[in-house]
This record gives sequence, structure tokens and C-alpha cells, in this order.
Amino acid sequence: MVKININGRDFEAEPCQTVLSVAQSAGIDIPTLCHTEAVADYGACRICLVEVERRGRKRLVTSCLYPVEEGIKVTTDSERVKKVRKTIIELLLARCPDSQAIREMAENMGVTESRFALEEKAETGSCILCGLCTRVCSEVVGASAISLVNRGTAREVALPFYDEASSCIACGSCAYICPTGAISLVDAGSKRIISWPNGTVDFQMKQCTRCGSHYAPVRQVEYMIESSGLSPTEFELCPDCRKLD
Ligand code: SF4
Ligand code: FES
Repeated sequence: MVKININGRDFEAEPCQTVLSVAQSAGIDIPTLCHTEAVADYGACRICLVEVERRGRKRLVTSCLYPVEEGIKVTTDSERVKKVRKTIIELLLARCPDSQAIREMAENMGVTESRFALEEKAETGSCILCGLCTRVCSEVVGASAISLVNRGTAREVALPFYDEASSCIACGSCAYICPTGAISLVDAGSKRIISWPNGTVDFQMKQCTRCGSHYAPVRQVEYMIESSGLSPTEFELCPDCRKLD
């Protein structure tokens, strides 16, 4: 076990843990946007930064990536931490002024408006380029249908497809995981409509052969048939009708 100190309290941690995971287990609040247990951390948003003192030297680190080390002293809410976090949230606010999640986080930090100029991208949505959607698509779903492309101000989440060759299965994991609501998903009868920051695609839904309800995207059902090895007949009924059998 590794001994560390957070905000004056001593903790023992597994060597594989990050500072964020130890703090969260202890109920110590550190804001995060791009962290989830579902995928490997990437350190994109930097809002989780904390101050770490190691061998007499203090520096700011992203807590979701920083591994625990024997004897480190962590401060999650020093004036220096709060000041830099405020600057980060102001930059995010300038990029995504209409994102409710960003606005709420900013308000919690006492920030109601940004000192920075609105980015051009601000007109097109709420994406903070955290990459959670692309990572969940590749690491959890295994589809790798969307990706972050380009550099600098042209960086964006690339739409999965407008052609039959796409590997998007319309599962909607990207929409569920997105921390800012930049991706939306609506099930409207026979269609699932997913809107990414730069475009919208409709997906055909599969219909239950008994009750007629549209219960899952056709592409997702095909994916499940292929990956499970089950017969297509197993997917003829919706979950409700299956329970009745
Ligand atoms: S769409 Fe959402 S999850 Fe994907 S990069 Fe943008 S903010 Fe992150
Ligand atoms: S939560 Fe750590 S960098 Fe985003």
C-alpha cells in the first residue's frame, strides 16, 4: 500500500490508483468532465487539476492521470488550484457558452461569464473535444465509428458516416457518455436520430414481430447477432414481448 495525504488527511492507496480515485473514494470533491470508469483516462479537460507536493516541490497535475506515490501531499482546493480551474472553466465557457453542464460547473466555481472571446466553434455546439465519445465507441463498444480529426481550431468529432461502409451501430453510447450534451439521441418511431456536433444521421429501428414496437436500431441488432453467435430469431421480439414467453 502507498501512503498519501490529501487536504491534511492521511490515506492508504493501492499503487495502481490515481489521486482522483483515492479522493473520490474518500468523498473529496474534485470536478471532472472527461473522467469515467468506463474507459482509460486521457486528461483532456484538465478541470480535475490539483496541487501535489513531492520531495518539497509543488506542482499542478491532472488528478485523473496522476498515480499515487509514497509520501505525496495533495491539495484539492488551494487558492492556486481554484484560480487555474477558474481559468480553465472560462476557456471552456468561451468555447461552449450554451452548454448547460459547463455553465453549471462554472457557476459552482463562481464564474458567470468568460474573460475570453467566444470561439468560432461556439456557434456550432457544446463539444469540448474531451474524446469520451470516441473512446467509449472504440474501447467499450468496439465499433471505432467516430474519431477526433484535424488539429488546432479545426479539431472536431468526425461524423461516423453517410454511406453503407460505416461501422456505427447507432447504439447511442456516445450520446450517453458525452459530458456536455453535445451529442443528442432521439428515438422517433421507426427512426433513431443521432446528432453529433457537425451533423445528424437517421438510423432504421427494428420492429417487434409481435407488438410492432420499434425497440432497437437494426444495425445494433445485427451487431449483437454477429458478436453473440445467437440466431436472428432470438431478436424477433422486443424485450417486453420476450418476457411474456
Ligand atoms: S461530443 Fe461530447 S464526448 Fe465527444 S468530444 Fe465532444 S464533448 Fe467530448
Ligand atoms: S477529468 Fe481529468 S483531465 Fe478531465
